[in-house]
Amino acid sequence: MTAKSPRKMLVTSALPYANGSLHLGHLLEQVQTDIWVRFQKSRGHHCLYVCADDAHGTAIMLTAEKLGISAEQQIENIKEEHERDSAGFLIGFDNFHTTHSEENRFWCETVYQCLKDNDHIALRTITQAFDPEKQLFLSDRFIKGICPRCKTADQYGDNCEACGATYSPMELLNPVSAISGAKPIEKESKHFFFKLPEFEAMLKQWLASDTLQSQVANKLKEWTEVGLQEWDISRDAPYFGFEIPGEPDKFFYVWLDAPIGYIASFQNYCDRTGHDFDAYWQLGTDTELYHFIGKDIINFHGLFWPAMLQSSGLRTPTALYAHGFLTVNGTKMSKSRGTFIKASTYLKHLDAEYLRYYFAAKLSASIDDIDLNLEDFVQRVNSDVVGKVVNIASRCAGFLRKQFDNRLSDHCSEEDLVKSFIAKGDAIADLYEQREFNKAIREIIALADQANQYIDEKKPWSLAKKSGTEEQVHEVCSVGINLFRVLMTYLKPVLPAMADKSEAFLNCSLNWTDLKAPLSGHLLSTFEPLITRIDVKQVEAMIEDSKESQAAEASTTVATGKTKAPSEAINFDDFAKIDLRIAEIVAAEHVEGADKLLRLTLSLSEDGEPSGNRQVLAGIKSAYQPDELVGKLTVMVANLAPRKMRFGVSEGMVLAAGPGEKELFLLEPHTGAKPGMQVK
Ligand code: 2FM
Ligand code: ZN
Repeated sequence: MTAKSPRKMLVTSALPYANGSLHLGHLLEQVQTDIWVRFQKSRGHHCLYVCADDAHGTAIMLTAEKLGISAEQQIENIKEEHERDSAGFLIGFDNFHTTHSEENRFWCETVYQCLKDNDHIALRTITQAFDPEKQLFLSDRFIKGICPRCKTADQYGDNCEACGATYSPMELLNPVSAISGAKPIEKESKHFFFKLPEFEAMLKQWLASDTLQSQVANKLKEWTEVGLQEWDISRDAPYFGFEIPGEPDKFFYVWLDAPIGYIASFQNYCDRTGHDFDAYWQLGTDTELYHFIGKDIINFHGLFWPAMLQSSGLRTPTALYAHGFLTVNGTKMSKSRGTFIKASTYLKHLDAEYLRYYFAAKLSASIDDIDLNLEDFVQRVNSDVVGKVVNIASRCAGFLRKQFDNRLSDHCSEEDLVKSFIAKGDAIADLYEQREFNKAIREIIALADQANQYIDEKKPWSLAKKSGTEEQVHEVCSVGINLFRVLMTYLKPVLPAMADKSEAFLNCSLNWTDLKAPLSGHLLSTFEPLITRIDVKQVEAMIEDSKESQAAEASTTVATGKTKAPSEAINFDDFAKIDLRIAEIVAAEHVEGADKLLRLTLSLSEDGEPSGNRQVLAGIKSAYQPDELVGKLTVMVANLAPRKMRFGVSEGMVLAAGPGEKELFLLEPHTGAKPGMQVK
């Protein structure tokens, strides 16, 4: 059943940027990887799962600057948050490290030295956009302006979202730095390039092998066909990253050091545990290396990465496993619809295993997008997990406890049935191995249907009422529990916490390798509930919470001076549209059920006439009691369209300033500021 000698595997998922919270899109990938790794472990293989935060780059440096903290502090905070959220989703990393580590510095320098020694590095002077105010070279995403083709304002430096034109940032009309608003100038600088074209033959061979999914290989072949370009692997100071040895003020580009972070995280694991490092990265080993990634980053992993590894004399991956994007209710995750769901927001309302199950039921080996349809999610989890799988155990456990001291019958009356469930193990394992989780789940649920049908036919509840049928009740319920044991073994990679509870109940471990024959005469522990049904209200509350925290974040954004991420910066025309006015808070109250909001009544008119009043839900509860607010002045966005929130309609937004939490300051009444006054 299990492969004769255990395989040795190292598995990674993409390193999340240390520039923001994990959302359900990240979790789709981590759950997919985690299920695959847990499955391999259950089959008796040596399988290690490592990951890390991707901690370098301009964006992280700018975020830290805006928050008034060091980049080191920023990445430390985020790492703690990422680890907590992944753990909440039961992601069983064997190691979670950071690319801002000594192991990664060592490996970046080592790899770079190999590339240099092999003459795979070219030095060229290039001209780039430069922000004269921030004294910073600007990547295309940090430049905005008017599209030279269709004249739409506010377009990024590489392409126009309105007409699809592609151009160089200096072709934009009225280009501005998205960081400072200054007009960029052109400036020359020396850059280091990785000579990717020299790997054309190797990459063509790699793309023709079975290492990649066919859709991925075809996409990458398009790149090789148009001709591979040299890849710029350096960035100028100021940059948060590793300085290139011997090249002052030149740094490794974040996309060079990120995949090397896989090696570094594993190095850190080996140093911690004494595990063999070389067997996984040197050439000619019998170990396997897998990278789970999103389809948006296949060029880095499918072209640059194998070429870098080859030049460095290191092994290349056994396979890349790319997945599609996550959509929610059929569309891209949206902040205003509340479907941009952070991992932590989900966990406040719902059990991680619901989503693990739903993702498993939808994931396949293809790169098609996966839709989280919230109605289907509730229905599917309740029907399959609670209504079918848990139901088998809960229907049988009560009789066994009450009448048979929690002991299974000595003889399994349906040995063939149980064995037929066990016999399905190899086919289900193949599906897991191929990442066809949706098909594996379908098979498992078909077995659960069969188990329920068996119990329905035997009706132990009716038998229990008759006399002389005690033995039959014992046998039927013992068979039911045996079937449950097999099903939970198959589901354990997807539902590890439920499997833990089932192991406690069944008094045995649930591994594929342990499934040989039915359990007889086996003592159970008392059955405890394994999981509860999802209430639609929990999902609704999660969506509202997502909207609310988005709104609270938006108000704190202005309030604390943390401007939005530069890529989302608005231009002057947008700013000019905002009607900022002084308003007086004439009433304030708690909002029942809301953690962060207060309901404020704001008067915009100088004479306090009620006609100018607006109701605004403001995320300032951490700093104020309602009473303290009455009479205070605030700057409000007066022309914000009313928004329906979970706790009512909000007719504007108030601005406060301060670091957040208890320190969010409004305006004190004084002679200068008067309600109704325009602020700009
Ligand atoms: O796309 C991303 O979110 C990157 N942070 C992924 C890096 S994966 C690897 F190369 F490190
Ligand atoms: Zn355009």
